[in-house]
Amino acid sequence: MIKKYGLLVLATLVFAAAVYFVLDKKKVFGEPEVITPLSNSWEKAIPNQKVPHGLVSLKSEDCGTCHKEYYAEWKTSTHAQAWVDQQFQAELKKESSPFMCINCHVPLQNQQEFIIKGLINGDIYKPVKEKNPLFDKELQKEGINCASCHVRNNVIIGTTGSTLAPHPVKKDPIHLSETLCISCHNANAVVTPTLACTFQTGDEWKAGPFYGKKNCISCHMPETHRSLMEGFPAKKSHFHNFPASGIPKHDTLKPAMLKSLEFYTTNVKKNYKLSDSLKFSLTLKNEHAGHRVPSGDPERFMLIDLVLKNADGKIISKTQGRIGEAWEWYPVAKKLSDNNLNPGEARSYSFKQFLNTKGKYMLETKVTKHRMTDEAVKYNKIDKSYPTNITIYDKKYEFEVK
Ligand code: HEC
Ligand code: HEC
Ligand code: HEC
Ligand code: HEC
Ligand code: HEC
Repeated sequence: MIKKYGLLVLATLVFAAAVYFVLDKKKVFGEPEVITPLSNSWEKAIPNQKVPHGLVSLKSEDCGTCHKEYYAEWKTSTHAQAWVDQQFQAELKKESSPFMCINCHVPLQNQQEFIIKGLINGDIYKPVKEKNPLFDKELQKEGINCASCHVRNNVIIGTTGSTLAPHPVKKDPIHLSETLCISCHNANAVVTPTLACTFQTGDEWKAGPFYGKKNCISCHMPETHRSLMEGFPAKKSHFHNFPASGIPKHDTLKPAMLKSLEFYTTNVKKNYKLSDSLKFSLTLKNEHAGHRVPSGDPERFMLIDLVLKNADGKIISKTQGRIGEAWEWYPVAKKLSDNNLNPGEARSYSFKQFLNTKGKYMLETKVTKHRMTDEAVKYNKIDKSYPTNITIYDKKYEFEVK
């Protein structure tokens, strides 16, 4: 009897405890949780869009049935990789990645499974989610697609207001200006102590010598003359492959590269006398970028390698330089150093070697540009096939010491 009674008390206690923990404590005690509205622009998606009249969907693939060249160009751009990118997907899966990571990578609400109504007590890790009835998974895979930049208030935004189009067009050259680019390519937010979202391509451009002369669009979407759709008269048009770093996202996708650096070297003679010194320097100058190089993602860097080998291929001497930022992420995100090249800035890497042995020599000079370190690839469990760097300068000098 007592045993039975005891069991009942225990069950009641367990039940009460469960109720206490399952229900929010504040609600039990009559204190409602506060839903904080989203405030920063990158906390919000572009509202759900309807398919503009005359079109079958918001997909780039469907814009591409008419705008063939635009589609083919965009397909090779990193914008088309902004969702499927392996590094992005790996980072998104981490608990430390808050909901708004996706707002610059799949900016349209139609590309997002949930509508975020606000934050519980202002906590970015506690968004108030609601299923999005217009969510389109195929649209999500396209990342930053035609509609991300061109569709607002259910119409196509253009720069001329063309009346030849089979879809509604609104002329808005201010929307389709560098302000659109900067809305994503400039962020400075300390999200949590160990997560800082910081890249300032927009600010770097505004502070640099190209401001007022060339902008994001004039360099990254160069002008051409062609028809927007086969059979229509040729007019002013812009390339849509968004060339830049040229570091591919996978083996089969080779995005176009824009050249920012010029390289200058001192001479290497064919012959040296015993006990001469080889003096060599390689200078990198950021002549063509409208911002610092590297720009954007703080993980990017360049390595400058100067290696001297003898006839047997043995390394006699070597030096390595690095251009980029260095960060410490734990316990608090902190930038340790930053020697990115400003627009117009030059930096030299020098090498001096006393030549005290006769024979043939090879001086190898190489510059590589990296998206991330190999350690970061391992840490993020990204496939080894993911390309992390490209060679942008490679020159070898043969000489003999007699
Ligand atoms: C059925 C064919 C067709 C489809 C599909 C189509 N367009 Fe067009 N579009 C045109 C034609 C034709 C023009 C006008 C060409 C001209 O003015 O020379 C045009 C013009 C434009 C312009 C220029 C507007 C301006 O103000 O100058 C933009 C931008 C544009 N389309 C974007 C899109 C996007 C984005 C999509 C997909 C969401 C799309 N189009 C789908 C045929 C199409
Ligand atoms: C909706 C946000 C968004 C907008 C708007 C946007 N971008 Fe991007 N852009 C991105 C993201 C995100 C990536 C990187 C994708 C990735 O690496 O997976 C990117 C990549 C790029 C790259 C390639 C960088 C590289 O590594 O080579 C260039 C160039 C670029 N954008 C230029 C522009 C220009 C020019 C505009 C304006 C016409 C623009 N972007 C508008 C978000 C945006
Ligand atoms: C990252 C933003 C971005 C994306 C993505 C994008 N566009 Fe554009 N597009 C622009 C901008 C900016 C202009 C206007 C450039 C100017 O006039 O200075 C433009 C112009 C156009 C024009 C007008 C003619 C011209 O070339 O200037 C057409 C047509 C067009 N885009 C179609 C497309 C199609 C189709 C896609 C997808 C395959 C697409 N765009 C993707 C930003 C974008
Ligand atoms: C004067 C021409 C010019 C202007 C203006 C310009 N860019 Fe660039 N941008 C370049 C060149 C060249 C590169 C290639 C850098 C390199 O060597 O990797 C580049 C690289 C980039 C990259 C890749 C950065 C990296 O380190 O890999 C992004 C992103 C980018 N630009 C965005 C923008 C945006 C956004 C704007 C406007 C605020 C802009 N650019 C203005 C010329 C320009
Ligand atoms: C304000 C807009 C914005 C937000 C928010 C944003 N990104 Fe990005 N992201 C970009 C842009 C722009 C690029 C393009 C390259 C650059 O600037 O280096 C990019 C590039 C990337 C890349 C590719 C880097 C490379 O070297 O190719 C990854 C991965 C990434 N973002 C992850 C994230 C994660 C994770 C979050 C959330 C913590 C996030 N992003 C939030 C704008 C944004």
